[in-house]
Amino acid sequence: MRFDLVTIFPDYFHALDFSLMGKAQETGLLDVVVHDLRDWTEDAHRTVDDSPYGGGAGMVMRPDVWGRCLDDVLAVGPGAAPRLRRVLAIPTPSGVPLTQRIAEDLAGANQIVVACGRYEGIDQRVADRYRQDEVEVLEFSIGDYVLNGGEVAALVLTEAVGRLLEGVVGNPESLVEESHGEEGLLEYPEFTRPRCWRELDVPEVLLGGNHAEIARWRRDQSLIRTAHRRPDLVAELEATHLDIHDREVLVGAGKILVPRRADVVIGLARSDEAGALARLAADTFPMACPPQLGETDIADFIGVHLSESEFTRMLADPDDHRILVARVKARDGGEDLIGYTVTVLGGPDGMPTEMVRPGRLELGAAYLSKCYVRAEWHGSGVSGALLERAVVDVEARARNSQIALGTNIANKRARTFYRRHGFSVVGRRTFEVGSVANIDDVLVRKVTPVVG
Ligand code: ADE
Repeated sequence: MRFDLVTIFPDYFHALDFSLMGKAQETGLLDVVVHDLRDWTEDAHRTVDDSPYGGGAGMVMRPDVWGRCLDDVLAVGPGAAPRLRRVLAIPTPSGVPLTQRIAEDLAGANQIVVACGRYEGIDQRVADRYRQDEVEVLEFSIGDYVLNGGEVAALVLTEAVGRLLEGVVGNPESLVEESHGEEGLLEYPEFTRPRCWRELDVPEVLLGGNHAEIARWRRDQSLIRTAHRRPDLVAELEATHLDIHDREVLVGAGKILVPRRADVVIGLARSDEAGALARLAADTFPMACPPQLGETDIADFIGVHLSESEFTRMLADPDDHRILVARVKARDGGEDLIGYTVTVLGGPDGMPTEMVRPGRLELGAAYLSKCYVRAEWHGSGVSGALLERAVVDVEARARNSQIALGTNIANKRARTFYRRHGFSVVGRRTFEVGSVANIDDVLVRKVTPVVG
């Protein structure tokens, strides 16, 4: 590949004579030619700039000088031959952010000409004019700050692209697992000898030789780093590439991931999903409990009411117990359950009515006994979608004209959520968790049975 770097300060580019870039030039993998823009001036003062039309501070680089230069440089390179890919790259703080993806794309070009502006930049017509030729024009920025000129950005581009050319980096594997790789995560931290340095130890897990554990630890570190340092990258993560463990790590790092491109599918639970449902239920039930409830009481409740055998029993009775689940594709190609609802159609089982205002809860109302979504998916719209599907499911069965539920009086988030979905509080009930009787609000929503 050939780089033509055009500048009024050619000495800037001596940096490319060192290290891997220097070696790549020696071995002919990379051909870097530096040009002094002033060689294309036509006046005694070798002028390259002038004051801006429309007024304002600073000077603008003249298009006529750049035009003469670029015509020559673009004709000189191998790109002059037809069908070869030529790129004119113009560093500017107002360009598109340079990313690893762009560098990878540019590594497929034959010639990259970098036009380094100074002062207030280059007359816009230069970029616009060459875009009309068979030249790709890329106005790029290396970050949200302003440099004195494009030279440093040109160095960055040359190295970012040059190191991707075959043979430039000795061990191509080192290109695979680095930051800004395919997954969009930052790289995990690395350690080497000595094992203890200034009372700081290398993390134990890296010393044990358990490759699966090391891989998991490194992925966790990548996720945590990315969450803390680059929340913008977390928002871009492909949700389907994250498994439940990844999501838990992100939540631990304070990032509730709102997946934008996850395929969440809601449907009836299958009869073989009792185990997965029990695990999901055990993970999510504690979130809805008031803070004063002890762990033992919560565990007792889970053991009795949310066990695999309880779900097996409910799944065996789909006429009375409707179980809906939200599924996402897991990274291993399987499925993860991320939320569920259980609706009892046979009546408000376990919902005493004496604390409910008379006439507000109909006998035979469907009872939404469970509606839970994993914490990582809160705010993603999954809970609302599950709830609405549960309501539609009740309507389709045409046996009930109301759907009722109970939620702890301290759980304001849940109450707001149900109100937003058309439920209103009609009274209270007691709800036992282990040895503790809790007070729940009872909420009701009308449903319109679909007849026929
Ligand atoms: N020229 C001046 N500032 C720049 C930046 N941030 N990126 C690219 N070129 C520039």
